[in-house]
Amino acid sequence: MKTLRFVCACSVGTLFLLAQKVTAEQIPYTDKTRVTAGQAVYEQNCAACHGKNLEGQFNWQKRNSDGYLPAPPHDETGHTWHHPDLMLFEFTKYGPQKFAGSDYKSIMPAYDGKLNDEEIWNALAYIKSKWPEEIQKKHTEVFGQ
Ligand code: HEC
Repeated sequence: MKTLRFVCACSVGTLFLLAQKVTAEQIPYTDKTRVTAGQAVYEQNCAACHGKNLEGQFNWQKRNSDGYLPAPPHDETGHTWHHPDLMLFEFTKYGPQKFAGSDYKSIMPAYDGKLNDEEIWNALAYIKSKWPEEIQKKHTEVFGQ
């Protein structure tokens, strides 16, 4: 009986640790394999709007006459690096509506069901790997790594 209880407590503990590890995942931008995989994800899914060189769309800060914003750049001229890792992940997975409310109008799709979590983290790894070293450092300092 004692052993059984111990085993149970252990598995609960392990599950808790695993759950923590998943939520604590951070952008793996120094992992070359994941950055390379992320480049392919980015080029196939994000570059059409955010630009092949992460430059975003023209006049990205101004809504068009229908009320939609153009895609912002993901390079150091944009605000991607002002946000924590998990927010960038959730923004990509669930779309802007997760933060701006369900009736928010945006052309940015939610990738839940289209990309798995690893592919999303890889795409973000590619994005962060393209920032100048000083911006990478700032982002890591503020949001942790
Ligand atoms: C159809 C165009 C389009 C595609 C494709 C697209 N986005 Fe976006 N994205 C946008 C727009 C527009 C915004 C600004 C949100 C808004 O409408 O207010 C945005 C915003 C974002 C933001 C938050 C803004 C920021 O700078 O932090 C992230 C992160 C993001 N996109 C990541 C991605 C990733 C990763 C992909 C590919 C997996 C992707 N997007 C594909 C249009 C797009």
